[in-house]
Amino acid sequence: MINLEKFEVIETDVLIIGAGGAGLRAAVESSKYNLDVTVVSKELLGKAHTTMAEGGINAALGNVDPEDNWKWHFLDTVEGGAWLNDQDLVEALVKEAPDRIFDLEEFGAVFDRLPNGKIAQRPFGKARYRRTCYMSDYTGHEVLATLVDEVRKRGVNVLEEIFVSKLLTSNGRVTGAVAIDMKNGDFLVFKSKAVVLSTGGAGRMYKVTTNPASATGDGKILALGAGAEVMDMEMFQFHPTTMVWPPSCRGILVTEAVRGEGGILLNIKGERFMKRYNPKLMELAGRDAVARANWTEIMEGRGTEHGGVYLSVTHLDPELVKTRLKTMYKQFLLAGIDITKEPMEVSPGAHYYMGGIRINIKTETGVKGLFASGEETAGVHGANRLGGNSLIDTQVFGKRSGEYAAKFAKSETFHPIDLKQVEEEQKRILSIAKEKSDKIRPVKIREQLCEVMWENAGIFRDENKLNSALSFIEKAKQQMLPRLGICDTTTWRYNKELIEALETINLIKVAELLVRSALIRTESRGAHYRTDYPKTDNKNWLKHIVWHLEDGVLKYRFEPVKITLEKPPQ
Ligand code: FUM
Repeated sequence: MINLEKFEVIETDVLIIGAGGAGLRAAVESSKYNLDVTVVSKELLGKAHTTMAEGGINAALGNVDPEDNWKWHFLDTVEGGAWLNDQDLVEALVKEAPDRIFDLEEFGAVFDRLPNGKIAQRPFGKARYRRTCYMSDYTGHEVLATLVDEVRKRGVNVLEEIFVSKLLTSNGRVTGAVAIDMKNGDFLVFKSKAVVLSTGGAGRMYKVTTNPASATGDGKILALGAGAEVMDMEMFQFHPTTMVWPPSCRGILVTEAVRGEGGILLNIKGERFMKRYNPKLMELAGRDAVARANWTEIMEGRGTEHGGVYLSVTHLDPELVKTRLKTMYKQFLLAGIDITKEPMEVSPGAHYYMGGIRINIKTETGVKGLFASGEETAGVHGANRLGGNSLIDTQVFGKRSGEYAAKFAKSETFHPIDLKQVEEEQKRILSIAKEKSDKIRPVKIREQLCEVMWENAGIFRDENKLNSALSFIEKAKQQMLPRLGICDTTTWRYNKELIEALETINLIKVAELLVRSALIRTESRGAHYRTDYPKTDNKNWLKHIVWHLEDGVLKYRFEPVKITLEKPPQ
């Protein structure tokens, strides 16, 4: 059991929560300011959803298509995002992208090359030009491994297997955080001048997802609790292609690079069905469109016996497949399929949260001292993210969050910790960890949540389905969460179920925000498709749904989309 009277207080100038691409890039940047920087990660260092951006990272280098430049990258991103993007954020993304690629090279990342020695670039969905830089199909791995090395080289303090459960605040300013050290069950209090949230997404609220077990929306809920706003919470991206067979592989990403390199989608009749959905862009239409097409084929009975469609590269040179799609070749070979000879079976899976913490160009959240970057945030990708834009987002806004958090910390002193807040958090956790005769284990709630969200708040939504998802969420809040309990109440040392219980509360809160926002948005836009409102309504709906907490109650307001460079069609 933990000792609640005594807990360790760790002082650090900048506390970075999350160790994916954005968190580590933030750490690299903050470390340049001669400050004490600490990264805390729920996972072991090197494990993050960043690795699931396999196919590449976008920057308008113009190495393959010299006509490309940041303006085309901008236009593709806002068109792809169905005009819901914050255009200030997009401008920063696309203008700074090339320099962040060169930073990665400087840190040691090895990109695939053209014969002339320049970084190679491949086509990706809805991009006018070949803009996606890559390392075969393990780009995210290479980026993350490079950043891990860089953070180590710079002597940044990294604490692994730490679960942050609450941010501490005082007079609208963040002062630190409360956490559990999962290794020994110790209760920790961080005292910091600035905090960066980069904990990633929340794909684990869905039954089929590419996301790791850690993607439980923690940061979005921490921010909301500290007084920040979240927006576009209805906007969740379903990647068109994840493995369906064998069952143990369900949800594993099949990278967009497969289609970028010329892979084609076929239904059970052998028809290249994208010609019916988007004859111009075919397999390289936006992810929202391809995911809907794949799902429609499957739902209308033209799918495979395992509930997928075919994705084939058998017409491509086997050597190209083995070199440019190395991971896919091995991944399917392990499942008994040689993709140079047989098609893959794929179907959509929950992949990326476009919604999240509202930030400005300096990655400020509205709560003094609290910054956020990466999949944690909203606005960069609007209603639908382009493949390859997530990795570059982690680098552009990871750097920005590290820089602005460091500058803020430089000008600040430590503020006292409010022990009452610490005590309240201890009580909340203890109420879950204590023995209960009528307990409901987190896995029971999660199984139902994932099923309900997949069926009712997935690729195709309508009022009835969303209302039934909301009924479940209300039931979970009122009847299940009060009975949330764990089996082993004797130790917190590697007590995985205690962490799962805390994550389950976060997932239910995120799911509630998603479903409520999806009900409010009575139109279809990007990844949010309402079968009862199938049209995009630019006249009435070019606005964000922005949430905050008022005395513990969720409130929302509308905010017009920031349009600075490109006007949407009327
Ligand atoms: O398909 C992929 O390789 C994923 C890339 C991304 O999400 O950006």
